[in-house]
Amino acid sequence: MIYGKNIVIRQLEIGDEEYLYKWWNYGEMMEHAGFPYGILNSKEAIRKNIISEIECYDAFPEKKRFIIFKKVNMEPIGELNYSGWRKRDQLCEFGIKICEASEQGLGYGQDALYHFIDYLFRTLNLNKIELTSMIDNKRAHNLYRKLGFKEIGIIRDGFFDSRTGAFSDVIYMDILKSEWLEKRESLTQK
Ligand SMILES: CC(C)(COP(=O)(O)OP(=O)(O)OC[C@H]1O[C@@H](n2cnc3c(N)ncnc32)[C@H](O)[C@@H]1OP(=O)(O)O)[C@@H](O)C(=O)NCCC(=O)NCCS
Repeated sequence: MIYGKNIVIRQLEIGDEEYLYKWWNYGEMMEHAGFPYGILNSKEAIRKNIISEIECYDAFPEKKRFIIFKKVNMEPIGELNYSGWRKRDQLCEFGIKICEASEQGLGYGQDALYHFIDYLFRTLNLNKIELTSMIDNKRAHNLYRKLGFKEIGIIRDGFFDSRTGAFSDVIYMDILKSEWLEKRESLTQK
């Protein structure tokens, strides 16, 4: 478990399909990822997907998903993952979603991501964490900047956006371990 101030992060478990099914098929929640209808996957397909992921006994697989809970009552409120781990280059990317709309904007996203980034740098021994995000997702960009990510550039037509049925630019951001260690200090001092 990864413990934050008001959240707990744990690995994916069988049974998580109950809320992943709801979250992933909720168009409004998936819009930021370009899926305004959700992913339209059955609960059984999601369950099988979970089983195939957790059948891997490697403590450090190339990608891994996690669920975010509120510490106060252990209610599931969102998800986190890392992927694209390139061991030689010591980098990976991540995804975060506070999936319960009523729990957004309450500090849980920042709390979870702060501890997840720290976990990734320490545990995977990374040199860099990178991300791409839809160009109009200002809320997420604000959070990433707040945690020290730098906007490196725009990837033109980097994503096919089902909201518009057209290609959309995406923003590329990253943070180096040295930058994180500095940022972490300034964030904990507040
Ligand atoms: C983006 C997201 C992870 C942020 O988590 P959150 O719990 O809602 O945000 P927090 O309350 O922790 O806020 C942290 C910072 O994010 C930014 N932020 C949060 N809500 C915002 C809003 N409505 N408008 C602009 N910036 C916002 C602010 O910088 C905020 O810091 P501040 O409170 O000091 O101003 C969450 O809203 C979410 O999951 N959204 C939908 C999915 C998504 O967009 N995922 C990212 C895909 S790249």
